[in-house]
Amino acid sequence: MAVILDGRVLSEKIRGELKEEVEYLKEKFGRAPTLAVVLVGNDPASEIYVRNKIKACQKVGINSLDKKLPETITQEELNRVVKELNDNKDVDGIIVQLPLPKHLSCREVINYISPEKDVDGFHPLNAGKCMLGLYDEGLMPCTPAGVMKFFEEYGIELQGKNAVMVGHSNIVGKPLANMLLNANATVSVCHVYTQDLAFYTKKADILCVATGVPHLIKAEMVKDGAVVIDIGISRLNGKIVGDVDFEAVKEKASAITPVPGGVGPMTITMLLYNTVKAFKMRHG
Ligand code: GUN
Repeated sequence: MAVILDGRVLSEKIRGELKEEVEYLKEKFGRAPTLAVVLVGNDPASEIYVRNKIKACQKVGINSLDKKLPETITQEELNRVVKELNDNKDVDGIIVQLPLPKHLSCREVINYISPEKDVDGFHPLNAGKCMLGLYDEGLMPCTPAGVMKFFEEYGIELQGKNAVMVGHSNIVGKPLANMLLNANATVSVCHVYTQDLAFYTKKADILCVATGVPHLIKAEMVKDGAVVIDIGISRLNGKIVGDVDFEAVKEKASAITPVPGGVGPMTITMLLYNTVKAFKMRHG
């Protein structure tokens, strides 16, 4: 029976530390770190995500600036909003909630965000620093950084281990694969075009899955004693589930993250962490 890697407990611990740090920074610099959240249109899922991010900010004392923009906004207008936030000295972090309406380019707007305010860690400069392992010099993407916190907190050794990343998105799969490699794991990256996925997953000491395919990973695809990190979240028969068949796989793994309550809370925690980090980097 696996150890359950509890993202709610770990988040509470880190958020408690951040709250104390925010109080100290507010005292020292006269204002709290501030996160600007840009939401374009009325996508209901995005509205919920944004509301949760703003609530989490408030709980640790981070200011939030809520920028709601109409669905019909042009790329130029959106870029201009981002530029104003870049120039605003009282803003430390900027996120543009994705996905954007189809007529807008997320790559263009991400490139517009000042790298030192890019608390999602999506700007190419931060992506490059992530690849090079220069974590202290930039802002790292929240979900992969949150996964690495689990390994640290639970003392899970990565050096020399076979790590398999299933999913190769720019937001999770690619940066997390890089972080595992920087920790000296032997990393394989699998994705939707991989032939014989189980061939790879069965060899994994560390198995990270971020595909959005509910219950893609079955018990017979997992090595005995593996550490399994489930980064998926979907709805299956009205229930929130991950990419891993949790009930079956937890009997085989040595440690596993649940969905919900695993990686999810850590993503928002690392956004708060990055906002505080961005504030500190700007204030020397
Ligand atoms: N949409 C889904 N995940 C994310 C995220 O981490 N950041 C932003 N900005 N949008 C998202």
